[in-house]
Amino acid sequence: MIARRAFLALAAASIATTALAQTRDPLADRFGGPFSLTAHDGRRVTDQDFRGRFMLIYFGYTRCPDVCPVDLFTMGEALKLLGKLAEKVQPLFITVDPERDTPDIIGDYAQSFHPRLLALTGSNAEVEAAVRAYKVHRVKYTPANDPANYGVDHSSLTYLMGPDGKFRTLAPHNTTPERMAEILRPYLERG
Ligand code: NI
Repeated sequence: MIARRAFLALAAASIATTALAQTRDPLADRFGGPFSLTAHDGRRVTDQDFRGRFMLIYFGYTRCPDVCPVDLFTMGEALKLLGKLAEKVQPLFITVDPERDTPDIIGDYAQSFHPRLLALTGSNAEVEAAVRAYKVHRVKYTPANDPANYGVDHSSLTYLMGPDGKFRTLAPHNTTPERMAEILRPYLERG
């Protein structure tokens, strides 16, 4: 009986520990890290330049046929819904296709979604470092119906990083603008 009680107490403690561990986000240390890239206005920027502000980051490419435009539209609309709170956020679009996404191309593209969306590109090695830090999937492929133009398969998560540069939360593809605003709001209100 005592052994059984001890076991139950242990089980309860273990469940409590698990619950606590889950409130500290288990993804917190998985996403993020240093990057050094070129902005669409030609400026060199690093992650350090955005300390003190939230970064809302999306990885994609301007020739993406369907996924990127939807997610960037969502990002732009969510920021509009957040009104003044959105001023705490620096939205960033990091290309996964630096070969074709030169600064002049990505700037116009990004700003069609939000006037403050800063588009970043760089050498392939610089982009690869950012891709690795954020655990972004990035694979080139050749479409059967358009073999002259490669595509880039990529993961489609929108990351919110805190003023300390650390991961806060993310939103998957197909999140609505309303839902994204709702996800971001408590972090921005606290931070
Ligand atoms: Ni895309």
